[in-house]
Amino acid sequence: MENCEACGTPEQAEKLKAVIEESKSTPGCLMHILQEAQGIYGFLPMSVQKTIAEGLGISLSEVYGVVTFYSQFSLKPKGKHRISVCLGTACYVKGSDKILSEIEKELGISCGECTADGLFSIDSCRCVGACGLAPVMMIGEEVYGKLTPESVKGILDKYRKEENV
Ligand code: FES
Repeated sequence: MENCEACGTPEQAEKLKAVIEESKSTPGCLMHILQEAQGIYGFLPMSVQKTIAEGLGISLSEVYGVVTFYSQFSLKPKGKHRISVCLGTACYVKGSDKILSEIEKELGISCGECTADGLFSIDSCRCVGACGLAPVMMIGEEVYGKLTPESVKGILDKYRKEENV
């Protein structure tokens, strides 16, 4: 059977094994293990979920059910720079859907995906508490406000430059 080494390094697999061993006797430990596993791998591919299910002696569908229920968990890899476009009401009425489309076009991926070079991923989110700056996006911890479709490229270029892309 495929195990968690299939999608990562042996070091990552060791870390995950240690987290499972440490936590498995604690009732309700699944959330904690999933958070740790996402920290180790950056996302939760099926192979990692299988390893956790086997380690805890529960079904894969139980693990999968929790992973897909909570939006904090991701089944897909995330980029080094995580872009999150706010689609909350204040941002939406100021055209954040157009900002999102422009970023998708600029990076050649859709919302929820990661670029092939692993540099950027795009997600949407709900109000980040900066409605006065609508429309807003975050890249990592950085907030960008009063965006226009025209301003997107310049912002992405700043990150590309840092990465020498
Ligand atoms: S709705 Fe976007 S920051 Fe509040």
